[in-house]
Amino acid sequence: MAYKIAVIPGDGTGPEVIAEGLKVLKAVSEKCGFKYELKQYDLGGERYLRTQEILPDSVFEELKGMDAIYLGAIGHPGVKSGVLEKGILLRIRFELDQYINLRPVKLYPGVETPLKDKGPEDIDFVVVRENTEGAYLGAGGFLKKGTPDEVAIQEAVHTRRGVERCIRFAFEYCSKRNRKKKVTLCGKTNVLTYAFDLWERTFYEVAREYKGIEADYAHVDAICMWMVKNPEWFDVIVTDNMFGDIITDLAAMIQGGLGIAAGGNINPKGVSMFEPMGGSAPKYAGKGVVSPLAAISACQMMLDHLGEKEAAREIENAIMKVVARDVKSLTAGKMGYSTSEVGDLVVKYIIK
Ligand code: IPM
Ligand code: MN
Repeated sequence: MAYKIAVIPGDGTGPEVIAEGLKVLKAVSEKCGFKYELKQYDLGGERYLRTQEILPDSVFEELKGMDAIYLGAIGHPGVKSGVLEKGILLRIRFELDQYINLRPVKLYPGVETPLKDKGPEDIDFVVVRENTEGAYLGAGGFLKKGTPDEVAIQEAVHTRRGVERCIRFAFEYCSKRNRKKKVTLCGKTNVLTYAFDLWERTFYEVAREYKGIEADYAHVDAICMWMVKNPEWFDVIVTDNMFGDIITDLAAMIQGGLGIAAGGNINPKGVSMFEPMGGSAPKYAGKGVVSPLAAISACQMMLDHLGEKEAAREIENAIMKVVARDVKSLTAGKMGYSTSEVGDLVVKYIIK
């Protein structure tokens, strides 16, 4: 059976990094002997400006029948902020019920971190971000918009079911990881006394079912501090959508930047989507200077999720060789190689 993979290269540097991920996918499929079919979808700012279409329902129906979605980046300087993000990225996350945003934070040997005195043995944790609720739901509205009396209300919605399934995923994930066996809830129980009361109660209830795992709590602001000061304290961090969005940009920086950080939007029983964490980076688009390693890592996560564990390991090993031996830096323009040359290096280590 061939995996059906939807490819959405999207905006900005999305297409050039996804091209490298697909090169790696081809090489690893030949080595490990699995088959796949790609279907490319032209979605994003260019299509919207050309046709006013964001995500046609017919395309959305096709996505539902895929085994996975491989996404580049969404966001275009010529389109009002939020239109494409909500209309494409968040719509897919919500309507395909991809309720987990899984973001591994791992410093590979040879990659520079801005943290003084911290190395690969200190930076290896995973953020499990709730991906379908919280402030992202879009609940709220305006009153008297455009007048001096105007009011904007933006509500955050946290459901017991949504919170519990996210926390359960975090504990299950932790039980399979070979690290500290610790799950840290990242919240704000001292101020958001409704939302994080629900999170905290649910967290400790679920924790009772996992005797071998330490359950730990920290406020989101403190987490930002510890992530810089003592990242070795973390194994799995579970948090809501908004906090998860913010702390994973910080986390990406300590693992070497957006050139290497990837994430999976997971529906454990449905269609999941994998993407590099960096945005569309319009100023670099088409120049061949950005690192494709985040997109290649996203491909690795996709294969791991599909059950192609050996292929996923092959990709990770090849990435580790490239960062240890070849690229000088992951910063755009400073790699010492072009985007496609870095893709070629990964392929070379997979073939060998
Ligand atoms: C991310 C991005 C998105 C988010 C944006 C583009 C809507 O920042 O995947 O972290 O906020 O979730
Ligand atoms: Mn983000």
